[in-house]
Amino acid sequence: MKNAGPATTRSAADFLPRSPAARHNLDSLRKAADGCKGCPLYQRATQTVFGKGKPHAKMILFGEQPGDREDIEGKPFVGPAGLLLDRCLEEAGIDRDEIYVTNAVKHFKWEPRGKRRIHKTPGLREIAACRPWFDAEVDAVQPQLIVCLGATAAQALLGSAFRVTQNRGKVLTVPTLTPVLATVHPSSILRAPDDESRHEARALFVADLREAAAFLRRHRRAA
Ligand code: URA
Ligand code: SF4
Repeated sequence: MKNAGPATTRSAADFLPRSPAARHNLDSLRKAADGCKGCPLYQRATQTVFGKGKPHAKMILFGEQPGDREDIEGKPFVGPAGLLLDRCLEEAGIDRDEIYVTNAVKHFKWEPRGKRRIHKTPGLREIAACRPWFDAEVDAVQPQLIVCLGATAAQALLGSAFRVTQNRGKVLTVPTLTPVLATVHPSSILRAPDDESRHEARALFVADLREAAAFLRRHRRAA
């Protein structure tokens, strides 16, 4: 066929539901995202891992991309990083059932190492291509705070010059965007070289999550 076009299109925008009502409905968005071919990442992944959680959550947790477990189960943060995240959320007094959890890209990017599939950081183009899904999730959920887990998520929202280490744990207000708080990714805690640094990294992470919870409490009182 002539002019069949490239095998992949330029972004997820081509796969968003057409009707405005469906665009604001998480179930319709999830269904539409199942068929997304907005960037090449769908080709080697098992399935789309769309966000999951309370439909009108006050907080969205924004991660990087699904990992090996998430790719198999089709749900965000269910692998080792997710288990650690759950425990830290609990310590910070945040109920995972009350929040909405999603990722900057919805397909697992990996490379083989022996029999294992090793996580590969998504590129700027893939992150940009996938952004329409996140924007639609934010529009549908209408959160009061977005918590970015790690540099990929934070830089996707705040620009590539953003440094998590310098600005973590603070609520940042950016024009036209929901308030954002950035912290580290839970996998960075799992990668800590020894018990002492792991302990410390975990405590700092929980402290950041507590800041996020405190912001929402203040918000509620002011409302
Ligand atoms: N890491 C992420 O950033 N997201 C997941 O869903 C799992 C691991
Ligand atoms: Fe679509 Fe995002 Fe998957 Fe790329 S990573 S195919 S843009 S859902």
